[in-house]
Amino acid sequence: MNSPAWTIQKKRDGKELEHKEILEFIQGVTGGSVADYQASAFLMAVYLKGMSLNETVALTEAMLNSGVRYDLSKVTGIKVDKHSTGGVGDKVSLILAPLAAACGLKVPMMSGRGLGHSGGTIDKLEAIPGFNIHLTREQFIETLARVGCAMTSQTSLICPADKKLYALRDVTATVECIPLIVASILSKKIAEGTEALVLDVKVGNGAFMKSSKQARSLAKTLIQVAKIMNLPTRAVLTNMDQPLGYSAGNAIELKESIEVLKNEKQADLCSADLKELTIQLCAQMLELGKVTRNLTEGRRLAHSRLADGSAWKVFRELVREQGGNLEAIENPQAIPLAPQKKVYTAKKSGYIVKMNTESLGRILIELGGGRKVASDQIDPTVGLVFHQKLGAKIKVGEPVVTVYARNDAELDPLMERVAQSVQISAAKKPVPKLILEQIKD
Ligand code: URA
Repeated sequence: MNSPAWTIQKKRDGKELEHKEILEFIQGVTGGSVADYQASAFLMAVYLKGMSLNETVALTEAMLNSGVRYDLSKVTGIKVDKHSTGGVGDKVSLILAPLAAACGLKVPMMSGRGLGHSGGTIDKLEAIPGFNIHLTREQFIETLARVGCAMTSQTSLICPADKKLYALRDVTATVECIPLIVASILSKKIAEGTEALVLDVKVGNGAFMKSSKQARSLAKTLIQVAKIMNLPTRAVLTNMDQPLGYSAGNAIELKESIEVLKNEKQADLCSADLKELTIQLCAQMLELGKVTRNLTEGRRLAHSRLADGSAWKVFRELVREQGGNLEAIENPQAIPLAPQKKVYTAKKSGYIVKMNTESLGRILIELGGGRKVASDQIDPTVGLVFHQKLGAKIKVGEPVVTVYARNDAELDPLMERVAQSVQISAAKKPVPKLILEQIKD
Protein backbone atom coordinates (compact mmCIF):
# COMPACT_ATOMS: atom_id res chain seq x y z
CA MET A 1 0.00 0.00 0.00
CA ASN A 2 1.32 3.47 -0.95
CA SER A 3 1.66 6.22 1.63
CA PRO A 4 -0.62 9.22 0.93
CA ALA A 5 2.49 11.36 0.29
CA TRP A 6 3.64 8.93 -2.40
CA THR A 7 0.27 9.07 -4.21
CA ILE A 8 0.26 12.87 -4.00
CA GLN A 9 3.81 12.98 -5.36
CA LYS A 10 2.96 10.68 -8.27
CA LYS A 11 0.05 12.91 -9.28
CA ARG A 12 2.09 16.06 -8.64
CA ASP A 13 4.67 14.74 -11.13
CA GLY A 14 1.95 14.25 -13.73
CA LYS A 15 1.90 10.46 -13.73
CA GLU A 16 -1.22 8.36 -14.17
CA LEU A 17 -2.48 6.80 -10.94
CA GLU A 18 -3.64 3.22 -10.88
CA HIS A 19 -7.19 2.29 -9.93
CA LYS A 20 -5.96 0.71 -6.68
CA GLU A 21 -3.92 3.77 -5.72
CA ILE A 22 -6.92 6.06 -6.12
CA LEU A 23 -9.13 3.63 -4.21
CA GLU A 24 -6.70 3.39 -1.28
CA PHE A 25 -6.26 7.15 -1.11
CA ILE A 26 -10.03 7.75 -1.06
CA GLN A 27 -10.49 5.01 1.55
CA GLY A 28 -7.92 6.87 3.64
CA VAL A 29 -9.84 10.15 3.20
CA THR A 30 -13.04 8.46 4.41
CA GLY A 31 -11.42 6.50 7.22
CA GLY A 32 -9.31 9.39 8.52
CA SER A 33 -5.83 7.98 7.83
CA VAL A 34 -5.36 10.66 5.14
CA ALA A 35 -5.22 14.07 6.86
CA ASP A 36 -7.15 17.06 5.49
CA TYR A 37 -3.87 18.73 4.47
CA GLN A 38 -2.90 15.64 2.45
CA ALA A 39 -6.35 15.47 0.82
CA SER A 40 -6.01 19.19 -0.03
CA ALA A 41 -2.57 18.63 -1.58
CA PHE A 42 -3.98 15.73 -3.62
CA LEU A 43 -6.85 17.93 -4.84
CA MET A 44 -4.39 20.62 -5.91
CA ALA A 45 -2.23 18.05 -7.70
CA VAL A 46 -5.30 16.79 -9.60
CA TYR A 47 -6.32 20.38 -10.33
CA LEU A 48 -2.91 21.15 -11.82
CA LYS A 49 -2.15 17.87 -13.60
CA GLY A 50 -5.63 16.60 -14.49
CA MET A 51 -6.75 12.99 -14.73
CA SER A 52 -7.22 10.52 -17.57
CA LEU A 53 -10.65 9.03 -18.26
CA ASN A 54 -9.60 5.82 -16.45
CA GLU A 55 -8.48 7.77 -13.40
CA THR A 56 -11.72 9.79 -13.40
CA VAL A 57 -13.78 6.58 -13.51
CA ALA A 58 -11.66 5.14 -10.67
CA LEU A 59 -12.13 8.30 -8.59
CA THR A 60 -15.90 8.26 -9.20
CA GLU A 61 -16.12 4.58 -8.23
CA ALA A 62 -13.97 5.07 -5.14
CA MET A 63 -16.12 7.99 -4.00
CA LEU A 64 -19.32 6.06 -4.72
CA ASN A 65 -18.05 3.04 -2.79
CA SER A 66 -17.01 5.18 0.18
CA GLY A 67 -20.64 4.93 1.28
CA VAL A 68 -23.90 3.12 0.63
CA ARG A 69 -26.03 3.08 -2.48
CA TYR A 70 -29.78 3.59 -2.12
CA ASP A 71 -32.08 0.99 -3.61
CA LEU A 72 -35.19 2.75 -4.91
CA SER A 73 -36.67 -0.33 -6.59
CA LYS A 74 -39.66 -0.32 -4.20
CA VAL A 75 -40.68 3.12 -5.43
CA THR A 76 -42.81 2.75 -8.54
CA GLY A 77 -42.19 5.02 -11.51
CA ILE A 78 -39.21 6.20 -13.48
CA LYS A 79 -36.60 8.00 -11.43
CA VAL A 80 -34.88 10.89 -13.18
CA ASP A 81 -32.82 13.60 -11.52
CA LYS A 82 -31.18 16.85 -12.64
CA HIS A 83 -27.94 18.37 -11.44
CA SER A 84 -26.33 21.69 -12.21
CA THR A 85 -22.59 22.29 -12.29
CA GLY A 86 -23.16 25.49 -10.34
CA GLY A 87 -23.98 29.12 -10.97
CA VAL A 88 -25.25 32.35 -9.41
CA GLY A 89 -28.98 32.65 -8.76
CA ASP A 90 -29.50 29.09 -9.96
CA LYS A 91 -32.63 28.08 -8.09
CA VAL A 92 -33.96 25.77 -10.83
CA SER A 93 -34.01 22.64 -8.64
CA LEU A 94 -36.55 24.13 -6.23
CA ILE A 95 -39.03 24.50 -9.08
CA LEU A 96 -37.97 21.61 -11.28
CA ALA A 97 -38.15 18.75 -8.75
CA PRO A 98 -41.86 19.33 -7.95
CA LEU A 99 -42.63 20.19 -11.58
CA ALA A 100 -41.10 16.98 -12.97
CA ALA A 101 -42.92 15.02 -10.24
CA ALA A 102 -46.18 16.72 -11.24
CA CYS A 103 -45.49 15.54 -14.81
CA GLY A 104 -45.23 11.90 -13.72
CA LEU A 105 -41.56 11.31 -12.90
CA LYS A 106 -40.03 10.37 -9.57
CA VAL A 107 -37.24 12.79 -8.68
CA PRO A 108 -34.77 11.59 -6.04
CA MET A 109 -32.69 14.72 -5.53
CA MET A 110 -29.57 14.75 -3.43
CA SER A 111 -27.92 18.15 -3.57
CA GLY A 112 -24.96 20.08 -2.22
CA ARG A 113 -24.30 23.33 -0.42
CA GLY A 114 -22.81 26.43 -2.02
CA LEU A 115 -19.45 25.77 -3.61
CA GLY A 116 -16.95 28.54 -4.41
CA HIS A 117 -18.92 31.56 -5.62
CA SER A 118 -21.92 29.42 -6.64
CA GLY A 119 -25.02 28.78 -4.56
CA GLY A 120 -26.29 25.38 -3.38
CA THR A 121 -29.81 23.93 -3.36
CA ILE A 122 -29.45 22.70 0.22
CA ASP A 123 -28.67 26.20 1.52
CA LYS A 124 -31.70 27.54 -0.36
CA LEU A 125 -34.00 24.86 1.09
CA GLU A 126 -32.76 25.69 4.58
CA ALA A 127 -34.31 29.13 4.11
CA ILE A 128 -37.68 27.37 4.67
CA PRO A 129 -38.17 27.33 8.45
CA GLY A 130 -38.20 23.75 9.76
CA PHE A 131 -37.41 22.09 6.41
CA ASN A 132 -35.43 18.92 7.10
CA ILE A 133 -32.58 18.53 4.63
CA HIS A 134 -31.09 15.60 6.54
CA LEU A 135 -33.44 12.81 5.49
CA THR A 136 -32.55 9.28 6.52
CA ARG A 137 -32.55 6.65 3.81
CA GLU A 138 -36.04 5.53 4.89
CA GLN A 139 -37.40 9.10 4.97
CA PHE A 140 -35.89 9.81 1.54
CA ILE A 141 -37.53 6.73 0.02
CA GLU A 142 -40.90 7.33 1.74
CA THR A 143 -40.99 10.98 0.69
CA LEU A 144 -40.10 10.05 -2.88
CA ALA A 145 -42.86 7.43 -3.00
CA ARG A 146 -45.50 9.67 -1.37
CA VAL A 147 -44.75 13.07 -2.91
CA GLY A 148 -43.01 12.17 -6.19
CA CYS A 149 -39.81 13.98 -5.25
CA ALA A 150 -37.52 14.17 -2.25
CA MET A 151 -34.77 16.71 -1.61
CA THR A 152 -31.95 16.01 0.75
CA SER A 153 -28.28 16.58 1.44
CA GLN A 154 -25.79 13.77 1.59
CA THR A 155 -25.99 11.80 4.80
CA SER A 156 -22.78 10.48 6.33
CA LEU A 157 -23.72 7.20 4.62
CA ILE A 158 -23.75 8.59 1.08
CA CYS A 159 -20.40 9.31 -0.57
CA PRO A 160 -18.70 10.45 2.65
CA ALA A 161 -15.50 10.94 0.65
CA ASP A 162 -17.25 13.49 -1.59
CA LYS A 163 -18.66 15.26 1.45
CA LYS A 164 -15.16 15.74 2.83
CA LEU A 165 -13.50 16.61 -0.48
CA TYR A 166 -16.35 18.98 -1.49
CA ALA A 167 -15.85 21.02 1.68
CA LEU A 168 -12.06 21.07 1.18
CA ARG A 169 -12.32 22.06 -2.49
CA ASP A 170 -14.53 24.97 -1.53
CA VAL A 171 -11.75 26.53 0.55
CA THR A 172 -8.62 25.42 -1.34
CA ALA A 173 -9.31 26.90 -4.81
CA THR A 174 -9.74 23.45 -6.38
CA VAL A 175 -13.36 23.67 -7.50
CA GLU A 176 -12.96 24.36 -11.24
CA CYS A 177 -11.52 21.00 -12.21
CA ILE A 178 -13.20 18.56 -14.61
CA PRO A 179 -12.27 15.18 -13.00
CA LEU A 180 -13.12 16.49 -9.52
CA ILE A 181 -16.48 17.88 -10.67
CA VAL A 182 -17.30 14.67 -12.58
CA ALA A 183 -16.48 12.36 -9.66
CA SER A 184 -18.31 14.59 -7.18
CA ILE A 185 -21.52 14.82 -9.19
CA LEU A 186 -21.72 11.27 -10.52
CA SER A 187 -20.78 9.49 -7.29
CA LYS A 188 -23.66 11.26 -5.48
CA LYS A 189 -26.14 10.76 -8.27
CA ILE A 190 -25.42 7.05 -8.66
CA ALA A 191 -25.54 6.58 -4.87
CA GLU A 192 -28.94 8.27 -4.56
CA GLY A 193 -30.38 5.61 -6.88
CA THR A 194 -31.60 7.66 -9.83
CA GLU A 195 -32.12 5.74 -13.08
CA ALA A 196 -31.26 8.62 -15.40
CA LEU A 197 -29.76 12.09 -15.16
CA VAL A 198 -30.00 15.44 -16.91
CA LEU A 199 -27.06 17.77 -16.37
CA ASP A 200 -27.21 21.53 -16.62
CA VAL A 201 -23.63 22.42 -17.50
CA LYS A 202 -23.13 26.12 -16.96
CA VAL A 203 -20.85 28.20 -19.13
CA GLY A 204 -19.87 31.86 -18.79
CA ASN A 205 -18.36 34.36 -16.40
CA GLY A 206 -20.44 33.09 -13.46
CA ALA A 207 -19.76 29.40 -14.11
CA PHE A 208 -16.80 27.23 -13.16
CA MET A 209 -16.28 26.64 -16.89
CA LYS A 210 -15.74 30.05 -18.46
CA SER A 211 -15.60 28.96 -22.12
CA SER A 212 -17.90 26.80 -24.24
CA LYS A 213 -14.90 24.59 -25.04
CA GLN A 214 -14.29 23.83 -21.35
CA ALA A 215 -18.00 23.34 -20.64
CA ARG A 216 -18.36 20.98 -23.61
CA SER A 217 -15.37 19.01 -22.40
CA LEU A 218 -16.91 18.78 -18.90
CA ALA A 219 -20.26 17.69 -20.36
CA LYS A 220 -18.64 15.04 -22.56
CA THR A 221 -16.56 13.64 -19.67
CA LEU A 222 -19.65 13.51 -17.46
CA ILE A 223 -21.56 11.62 -20.15
CA GLN A 224 -18.65 9.23 -20.88
CA VAL A 225 -18.09 8.36 -17.21
CA ALA A 226 -21.84 8.03 -16.58
CA LYS A 227 -22.10 5.64 -19.53
CA ILE A 228 -19.27 3.47 -18.20
CA MET A 229 -21.12 3.43 -14.88
CA ASN A 230 -24.47 2.56 -16.53
CA LEU A 231 -26.31 5.78 -15.80
CA PRO A 232 -28.14 7.15 -18.87
CA THR A 233 -27.20 10.82 -18.91
CA ARG A 234 -27.48 13.84 -21.15
CA ALA A 235 -26.35 17.42 -20.77
CA VAL A 236 -27.55 20.86 -21.71
CA LEU A 237 -25.04 23.69 -21.94
CA THR A 238 -26.61 26.87 -20.59
CA ASN A 239 -25.37 30.42 -20.30
CA MET A 240 -24.16 31.90 -17.00
CA ASP A 241 -22.95 35.35 -18.13
CA GLN A 242 -25.56 36.84 -15.83
CA PRO A 243 -27.34 35.60 -12.70
CA LEU A 244 -30.35 33.39 -13.37
CA GLY A 245 -33.69 35.04 -12.57
CA TYR A 246 -33.77 38.27 -10.62
CA SER A 247 -32.15 37.26 -7.32
CA ALA A 248 -29.16 35.74 -5.53
CA GLY A 249 -29.30 34.89 -1.81
CA ASN A 250 -31.02 32.02 -0.13
CA ALA A 251 -34.28 33.51 1.21
CA ILE A 252 -34.76 35.78 -1.77
CA GLU A 253 -34.18 32.90 -4.20
CA LEU A 254 -36.75 30.87 -2.30
CA LYS A 255 -39.17 33.77 -2.70
CA GLU A 256 -38.49 33.93 -6.45
CA SER A 257 -38.94 30.17 -6.84
CA ILE A 258 -42.29 30.29 -5.05
CA GLU A 259 -43.44 33.12 -7.31
CA VAL A 260 -42.67 30.95 -10.35
CA LEU A 261 -44.33 27.90 -8.81
CA LYS A 262 -47.41 29.93 -7.90
CA ASN A 263 -47.53 31.49 -11.36
CA GLU A 264 -47.48 34.98 -9.98
CA LYS A 265 -47.75 37.62 -12.68
CA GLN A 266 -44.37 39.24 -12.10
CA ALA A 267 -42.63 35.86 -12.51
CA ASP A 268 -43.28 36.02 -16.27
CA LEU A 269 -41.55 39.37 -16.42
CA CYS A 270 -38.78 39.14 -13.84
CA SER A 271 -37.99 35.42 -13.93
CA ALA A 272 -38.54 34.65 -17.61
CA ASP A 273 -35.09 33.05 -18.06
CA LEU A 274 -35.48 30.96 -14.91
CA LYS A 275 -38.87 29.72 -16.05
CA GLU A 276 -37.68 28.97 -19.57
CA LEU A 277 -34.67 26.99 -18.37
CA THR A 278 -36.78 25.03 -15.88
CA ILE A 279 -39.28 24.08 -18.60
CA GLN A 280 -36.47 23.05 -20.95
CA LEU A 281 -34.74 20.88 -18.34
CA CYS A 282 -38.07 19.33 -17.39
CA ALA A 283 -38.72 18.46 -21.04
CA GLN A 284 -35.27 16.83 -21.20
CA MET A 285 -36.05 14.77 -18.07
CA LEU A 286 -39.44 13.73 -19.46
CA GLU A 287 -37.96 12.63 -22.78
CA LEU A 288 -35.09 10.77 -21.09
CA GLY A 289 -37.57 9.08 -18.73
CA LYS A 290 -39.82 8.23 -21.72
CA VAL A 291 -42.83 9.99 -20.23
CA THR A 292 -43.05 12.01 -23.43
CA ARG A 293 -41.91 11.13 -26.95
CA ASN A 294 -40.01 14.32 -27.64
CA LEU A 295 -39.00 17.69 -26.23
CA THR A 296 -41.98 19.52 -27.74
CA GLU A 297 -44.43 17.25 -25.93
CA GLY A 298 -42.36 17.55 -22.77
CA ARG A 299 -42.36 21.32 -22.88
CA ARG A 300 -46.12 21.34 -23.41
CA LEU A 301 -46.68 19.03 -20.44
CA ALA A 302 -44.30 21.01 -18.20
CA HIS A 303 -45.97 24.30 -19.13
CA SER A 304 -49.41 22.96 -18.35
CA ARG A 305 -48.42 21.42 -14.98
CA LEU A 306 -46.86 24.71 -13.94
CA ALA A 307 -49.82 26.77 -15.16
CA ASP A 308 -52.53 24.60 -13.54
CA GLY A 309 -50.90 24.74 -10.10
CA SER A 310 -49.91 21.03 -9.98
CA ALA A 311 -46.21 21.81 -9.46
CA TRP A 312 -47.03 24.22 -6.62
CA LYS A 313 -49.22 21.55 -5.01
CA VAL A 314 -46.34 19.04 -5.12
CA PHE A 315 -43.97 21.66 -3.66
CA ARG A 316 -46.39 22.26 -0.75
CA GLU A 317 -46.62 18.51 -0.14
CA LEU A 318 -42.84 18.25 -0.21
CA VAL A 319 -42.46 21.08 2.31
CA ARG A 320 -45.10 19.51 4.58
CA GLU A 321 -43.57 16.03 4.30
CA GLN A 322 -40.07 17.34 5.10
CA GLY A 323 -41.24 19.32 8.14
CA GLY A 324 -41.17 22.82 6.64
CA ASN A 325 -43.48 25.61 7.74
CA LEU A 326 -46.30 25.92 5.20
CA GLU A 327 -47.32 29.39 6.35
CA ALA A 328 -43.81 30.62 5.57
CA ILE A 329 -44.11 29.61 1.92
CA GLU A 330 -47.77 30.55 1.35
CA ASN A 331 -46.99 34.23 1.16
CA PRO A 332 -43.60 34.81 -0.46
CA GLN A 333 -43.84 38.57 0.13
CA ALA A 334 -43.59 37.86 3.86
CA ILE A 335 -40.28 35.96 3.66
CA PRO A 336 -37.94 38.04 5.84
CA LEU A 337 -34.93 39.73 4.22
CA ALA A 338 -31.97 41.45 5.88
CA PRO A 339 -32.84 44.85 7.42
CA GLN A 340 -30.44 47.17 5.59
CA LYS A 341 -30.86 47.75 1.90
CA LYS A 342 -29.24 50.00 -0.65
CA VAL A 343 -30.02 50.47 -4.30
CA TYR A 344 -27.28 50.92 -6.85
CA THR A 345 -28.70 53.18 -9.57
CA ALA A 346 -27.42 53.78 -13.10
CA LYS A 347 -24.91 56.61 -13.34
CA LYS A 348 -25.54 56.99 -17.05
CA SER A 349 -28.14 55.97 -19.62
CA GLY A 350 -27.46 53.13 -22.04
CA TYR A 351 -27.62 49.35 -22.21
CA ILE A 352 -26.53 46.71 -19.72
CA VAL A 353 -23.69 45.08 -21.68
CA LYS A 354 -21.84 43.05 -19.08
CA MET A 355 -22.44 41.55 -15.66
CA ASN A 356 -19.48 40.09 -13.80
CA THR A 357 -21.48 37.20 -12.41
CA GLU A 358 -18.71 35.55 -10.40
CA SER A 359 -18.00 38.88 -8.71
CA LEU A 360 -21.72 39.20 -7.84
CA GLY A 361 -21.57 35.68 -6.35
CA ARG A 362 -18.53 36.68 -4.29
CA ILE A 363 -20.29 39.84 -3.07
CA LEU A 364 -23.06 37.57 -1.77
CA ILE A 365 -20.45 35.58 0.16
CA GLU A 366 -19.06 38.83 1.66
CA LEU A 367 -22.57 39.73 2.78
CA GLY A 368 -22.77 36.43 4.68
CA GLY A 369 -24.82 34.53 2.10
CA GLY A 370 -22.03 32.01 1.36
CA ARG A 371 -18.99 30.49 3.04
CA LYS A 372 -15.37 31.64 3.14
CA VAL A 373 -14.34 28.71 5.31
CA ALA A 374 -16.13 25.39 5.60
CA SER A 375 -17.47 26.09 9.11
CA ASP A 376 -19.09 29.48 8.25
CA GLN A 377 -22.79 29.80 9.04
CA ILE A 378 -24.86 31.25 6.22
CA ASP A 379 -27.27 34.11 6.73
CA PRO A 380 -30.26 33.29 4.47
CA THR A 381 -31.70 36.83 4.63
CA VAL A 382 -28.91 38.68 2.80
CA GLY A 383 -28.98 38.93 -0.97
CA LEU A 384 -29.05 40.80 -4.23
CA VAL A 385 -31.96 41.76 -6.48
CA PHE A 386 -31.13 42.38 -10.12
CA HIS A 387 -33.55 44.89 -11.61
CA GLN A 388 -32.11 44.59 -15.10
CA LYS A 389 -30.88 41.78 -17.31
CA LEU A 390 -28.23 41.87 -20.05
CA GLY A 391 -29.33 43.92 -23.06
CA ALA A 392 -31.85 46.02 -21.08
CA LYS A 393 -32.10 49.72 -21.89
CA ILE A 394 -31.67 51.82 -18.80
CA LYS A 395 -31.94 55.52 -17.94
CA VAL A 396 -29.71 57.40 -15.54
CA GLY A 397 -31.03 57.10 -11.96
CA GLU A 398 -32.95 53.85 -12.53
CA PRO A 399 -32.31 50.95 -10.13
CA VAL A 400 -29.80 48.32 -11.28
CA VAL A 401 -29.13 46.17 -8.19
CA THR A 402 -30.59 46.25 -4.66
CA VAL A 403 -28.36 44.83 -1.93
CA TYR A 404 -29.77 43.43 1.34
CA ALA A 405 -27.28 43.35 4.22
CA ARG A 406 -27.22 42.84 7.98
CA ASN A 407 -25.78 46.29 8.68
CA ASP A 408 -24.36 49.38 6.99
CA ALA A 409 -20.78 48.50 7.94
CA GLU A 410 -21.02 45.40 5.73
CA LEU A 411 -23.07 47.10 3.04
CA ASP A 412 -21.20 50.32 2.29
CA PRO A 413 -17.82 48.90 1.18
CA LEU A 414 -19.57 46.47 -1.17
CA MET A 415 -21.59 49.03 -3.13
CA GLU A 416 -18.53 50.06 -5.18
CA ARG A 417 -17.91 46.40 -6.07
CA VAL A 418 -21.56 46.07 -7.14
CA ALA A 419 -21.15 49.12 -9.37
CA GLN A 420 -18.02 47.64 -10.95
CA SER A 421 -19.80 44.34 -11.60
CA VAL A 422 -22.38 45.81 -13.96
CA GLN A 423 -21.27 47.60 -17.11
CA ILE A 424 -23.51 50.11 -18.89
CA SER A 425 -22.64 51.29 -22.38
CA ALA A 426 -24.18 53.58 -24.99
CA ALA A 427 -23.70 50.85 -27.63
CA LYS A 428 -25.90 47.77 -27.47
CA LYS A 429 -24.20 44.35 -27.47
CA PRO A 430 -25.69 41.00 -28.48
CA VAL A 431 -27.14 39.03 -25.54
CA PRO A 432 -25.91 35.41 -25.29
CA LYS A 433 -28.51 32.70 -25.79
CA LEU A 434 -29.73 31.07 -22.57
CA ILE A 435 -29.76 27.49 -23.87
CA LEU A 436 -26.66 26.86 -25.95
CA GLU A 437 -26.60 23.22 -26.92
CA GLN A 438 -27.67 19.75 -25.99
CA ILE A 439 -25.10 16.95 -25.66
CA LYS A 440 -26.25 13.35 -25.83
CA ASP A 441 -24.30 10.14 -25.75
N1 URA B 1 -21.87 20.03 -8.03
C1 URA B 1 -21.30 19.02 -7.31
O1 URA B 1 -21.99 18.22 -6.67
N2 URA B 1 -19.97 18.91 -7.31
C2 URA B 1 -19.18 19.75 -8.00
O2 URA B 1 -17.98 19.58 -7.96
C3 URA B 1 -19.76 20.80 -8.74
C4 URA B 1 -21.13 20.93 -8.74
